[in-house]
Amino acid sequence: MSDQDHGKNATFTLTDNRDGKSYELPIMDASVGPSVVDVRKLYAETDCFTYDPGFTSTGSCESQITYIDGDAGVLLYRGVPIQELAEHSDFMEVCYLLLYGELPNGKQKAKFEHDITYHTMLHEQLAGFYRGFRRDAHPMAIMCGVVGALSAFYHDSTDITDPQHRVVASYRMIAKMPTIAAWAYKYSLGQPFIYPRNELSYAENFLHMMFATPCEDYSVSPVLSRAMDRILTLHADHEQNASTSTVRLAGSSGANPFACISAGIASLWGPAHGGANEAVLTMLGKIGHKDNINEYVKKAKDKEDPFRLMGFGHRVYKNMDPRAKVMRQSCHEVLDELGITDEPLLDLAMELERIALEDEYFVERKLFPNVDFYSGIIFKAMGIPTSMFTVLFAVARTVGWVAQWNEMIEDPSQKIGRPRQLYTGYTERPYVPIDQR
Ligand code: CMC
Repeated sequence: MSDQDHGKNATFTLTDNRDGKSYELPIMDASVGPSVVDVRKLYAETDCFTYDPGFTSTGSCESQITYIDGDAGVLLYRGVPIQELAEHSDFMEVCYLLLYGELPNGKQKAKFEHDITYHTMLHEQLAGFYRGFRRDAHPMAIMCGVVGALSAFYHDSTDITDPQHRVVASYRMIAKMPTIAAWAYKYSLGQPFIYPRNELSYAENFLHMMFATPCEDYSVSPVLSRAMDRILTLHADHEQNASTSTVRLAGSSGANPFACISAGIASLWGPAHGGANEAVLTMLGKIGHKDNINEYVKKAKDKEDPFRLMGFGHRVYKNMDPRAKVMRQSCHEVLDELGITDEPLLDLAMELERIALEDEYFVERKLFPNVDFYSGIIFKAMGIPTSMFTVLFAVARTVGWVAQWNEMIEDPSQKIGRPRQLYTGYTERPYVPIDQR
């Protein structure tokens, strides 16, 4: 689609001291979903900026990767509904789809899996890099550091103008992320790092590196590896959210891909974004017992109280998040497989879900349990520590970041990101010497 080929315009009239002058702004149509008003020439022609904190009405790029209809609860990767991918596909296939735009045939899939598998080891000197961190460092802090440091270890894939460098950097990040994540966990335990094994799938390999030790192999349950693979699939991309926009913004200056993904990880860390799954468990711990749920629901509804129910609500989904539906089912499968029937925290979560789904405040505001609510519970049941939850989100989202970064680099209309502002500070005033203040 281009801005020239449709002829539709929006009229924009300035009613301030510019005599009600009108301007024509082109409208660009999406293949599905809302059209956009192209304001690129607005400043040059009108001397006005648009004002949109949080970018709730602003499209920052043209993209063909992921589509969300938050009202209808739809999420498509390259046009394919997330529910179908969660049911019939697997994470490696989803990675290929996101990166290349089409599902792979058998030969393409086998080659892609092989290429990813053979990039899973980390440069051995990175083991020394880990040892610079305190043992109690948050694994997200380690992940930001280690992923940023990859650019110091893999110089042969940082030339962003070279398509082959971009492919190698993309594969490296997707492949190494589970190793980086699992090593952050092992480091916190003081256990030896476990190396990847090429005969295992992506999800199995991650669980193996997390839970095996040099003294004992870890036999991966197919139900758990399937649940892990689904979690990775469901989190793989989510269009222009905070971390993806961060990756694009960082990359728009020409920064190397490892640095850009590291910036995305930092953005993901916040509790309003990827940190929510960790915040869910922390909140459940605080609530402590089913009897206290009403008190916390009351706090969440109190406008004077900053407390929010973590794992509820979403900026885009004002209907049940389609990922949360799949995750809810996975959650029950995992609890059954592990025979968890009387874990108080999980019991509490299920009761909280029931109450929030019925409470008028949550129903009216369309605050459904989101994907993080269920993923937190699944991770907890699998024995993954709370501090690793957001790390796992980062592992899954890496392919989305990488696909979006590549799309941006290849977009001929791409420019360095440079938002403007509504300045409300002092107008010009003279400097006052210190003895006169
Ligand atoms: N608990 C209680 N009230 C809430 C909550 C909540 N979790 N979320 C929103 N509200 C209320 C909010 O107070 C407001 O009420 P009112 O209209 O009376 O002022 C109304 O619902 C709309 O909220 P908002 O802040 O305008 O909504 P938003 O779209 O800006 O916020 C959100 C989205 C995800 C930041 C927010 O719902 C939230 O903080 N949720 C908890 C954190 C969480 O679970 N985040 C994970 C999001 S999904 C993962 C991802 O994609 O990164």
